[in-house]
Amino acid sequence: MERPRRLRRTPAIRRLVREVSLEPRHLIQPLFVHLAPDPEPIPSMPGQHRHSLESLEEIAGRALAAGLGGVILFGVLPQEQKDELGGGAYHEEGVVQQAIRRLKARYPELLVIADTCLCEYTAHGHCGVVVGDTVDNDATLELLAKTAVSQAEAGADVVAPSAMMDGQVAAIRRALDAAGHKEVPILAYAVKFASSFYGPFRDAADSAPSFGDRSTYQMDPAAGSWDALREAALDDAEGADLLMVKPALAYLDLVRLLKERFAKPVGAYLVSGEYSMIKAAAQKGWIDERRVVLEALTGLRRAGAQFVLTYHALEAAAWLTSG
Ligand code: PBG
Repeated sequence: MERPRRLRRTPAIRRLVREVSLEPRHLIQPLFVHLAPDPEPIPSMPGQHRHSLESLEEIAGRALAAGLGGVILFGVLPQEQKDELGGGAYHEEGVVQQAIRRLKARYPELLVIADTCLCEYTAHGHCGVVVGDTVDNDATLELLAKTAVSQAEAGADVVAPSAMMDGQVAAIRRALDAAGHKEVPILAYAVKFASSFYGPFRDAADSAPSFGDRSTYQMDPAAGSWDALREAALDDAEGADLLMVKPALAYLDLVRLLKERFAKPVGAYLVSGEYSMIKAAAQKGWIDERRVVLEALTGLRRAGAQFVLTYHALEAAAWLTSG
């Protein structure tokens, strides 16, 4: 008789047949940074802060020491400094540009990724240039390209366009190459949904759209896998170096699909709402946070994610190293 339980009987046999690995290098810590003098806790994301440049440097040092794959930076701007065209995203002295310069000066070996989008910097909170009641795709491309170039000039190791404008990877690749940044890879938010799981992030970055929503540019969760394949194929052809699916847990099928279809590393973003749900349940004592997080990350690795962006990265790395 076939008895699968034979291979589960002892820790030694389970260890032998275990195929999925999870290490700190697979994890990327998203970090919020603002230009205020002090870090500020984010109420809907327990344990996460809007960092000052100083506290950012401290936590990035911990990320490096923990052996994480890297960090990804998101700028937070006071409402009164935002404008219609998201100028703060591509200003040489912008918050993310300053943060990158500081981190790369202090920790040259830390992988610093810059999220490339406008929504944290536009007064209306949309990811691009608003014309009438819509987001103008092609006018936005130019600003995204400027943003990516300014991030690369500041020293970003990787740029990660997340605005979901058509052609954004090609526009950014062209601009980076023209500015002499041929070696800077693009991590494409290739498959990014108009998701309700981003709620806490929008509190953190104060980036909720002031009118409408993002469903004319981010993907429809009910569209079929054709839409994911199409988006990923475009980013692949436009020169993306790394592909990502976001959010993660409700879209594991697409992580697997991209892993099978494209000869590029595929990552997943375990987003703010996914983080906060786990934190909230753990605070209530309803789940074992450590086990739940490591199980979710293992599931993502099994689905095919080479790397995972997760607000739990530092905690998970500590759990992994403490055994
Ligand atoms: C910027 C961006 C967002 C997230 C990552 N990059 C917000 C959005 O699209 O509304 C969300 C990440 C998270 O929820 O953790 N466009």
